[in-house]
Amino acid sequence: MRPLEVLGIKTELIKIGDDIVEALKKGMENLGLELEEGDILVISESALATSERRVVNLEDITPSKLACTLGAKYSKDPREMELILKESDEIMGGIPGVVLTLKDGFLYPNAGIDHSNAPPGYIILFPANPKKAAEDIRRRISGGKRIGVIVGDSRTHPLRFGCVGVALGCAGIEPVEDARGQVDLYCKPLQITRKAVADNLVSAAQIVMGESNESTPAVVIRGAPVVLIDGACEIPRIPPEECMYMGALRHGPHPYNGGYDALIDEAMRARDTSYAPYSGFKVGAAVLAKSGRVYSAGNMENISANDGICAERAALTNAIASGDSKFEALAVVGDTPRPISPCGVCRQMLSEFGGNIKVIMANLKGEVAMASISDLLPEAFNGSCLEKTTDK
Ligand code: THU
Repeated sequence: MRPLEVLGIKTELIKIGDDIVEALKKGMENLGLELEEGDILVISESALATSERRVVNLEDITPSKLACTLGAKYSKDPREMELILKESDEIMGGIPGVVLTLKDGFLYPNAGIDHSNAPPGYIILFPANPKKAAEDIRRRISGGKRIGVIVGDSRTHPLRFGCVGVALGCAGIEPVEDARGQVDLYCKPLQITRKAVADNLVSAAQIVMGESNESTPAVVIRGAPVVLIDGACEIPRIPPEECMYMGALRHGPHPYNGGYDALIDEAMRARDTSYAPYSGFKVGAAVLAKSGRVYSAGNMENISANDGICAERAALTNAIASGDSKFEALAVVGDTPRPISPCGVCRQMLSEFGGNIKVIMANLKGEVAMASISDLLPEAFNGSCLEKTTDK
């Protein structure tokens, strides 16, 4: 078998807006290095993002109220927090200085926003579309040869010091190989059935690239036994509900990071329609169906104390009666000291429609929290509970 070679490509400093392909071609020329069939080019995401002008001067950012609140909570510059909010899909939680975010189905610290290797005064965001960039670079640099391109970053592993590699996007190679059907040394079927080929190649590249001032923004890996493919390939994701870490670390509500302000406003309006003469506690809810339609309701009480219905269930009933049964999010608002928390019956009814519905909980002070319904009602009673395990 051919030995594995990891060849660093030193370049001039890549500045904002530089053409990264030209810089790499020059770097390879200086080395006398020509790409060969089967080579894998690993490019650092920060160099790519700099070339893509995905850099921001913090002085140009005006933080929102939400960014200031979360910045104080996680000891982060509110301007940076503003960018994190903009760049991420969800904020899972955090510690002073770092927030764990969900972005495009993966977890990243601070939505991938980085100070290191950023031009003075700037911070670097993730490349705009690493998969597309990998494919564009592959087309421009391959010279007609079958090569792979990976945009790589570093990541940490829970409870471990140090960084390993992670592929953000790739083209020309299979990022995760399926080893199902293979056997171990003792002919038992493999337990771990997938190989994170692209991530492992990024780790190998990082041994040569370093993390600091090595001026080596890319590496050519030669002789790696990988599966080459045509075009770009999505890096496969594990749905959060099937992920060991997400399952084990599942917790209650996390900070609201925007995106559902209109739904909260609708819930607020619905609160005005509440019929709550007995408790005097008005609640409003609005549910956003996958169809894009919104249904809302207030709570509706009755003199017969047990016959009332909460705002959330009233809004859901509205939706179902109108033919919508797939939901993205539900907002609920009440005059509570902390963001309102839906009752158990409402949680059960929401979970009927899938574990991933986002529940946005707000109060009149403008405090907002959010959680998926499976976080609010773990181990919900569902259809699988009715499956028989024994014949009676
Ligand atoms: N209520 C809701 O509508 N939603 C909630 O999440 C909590 C409670 C209603 C039920 C009842 O009409 C009143 O608030 C007091 O419990």
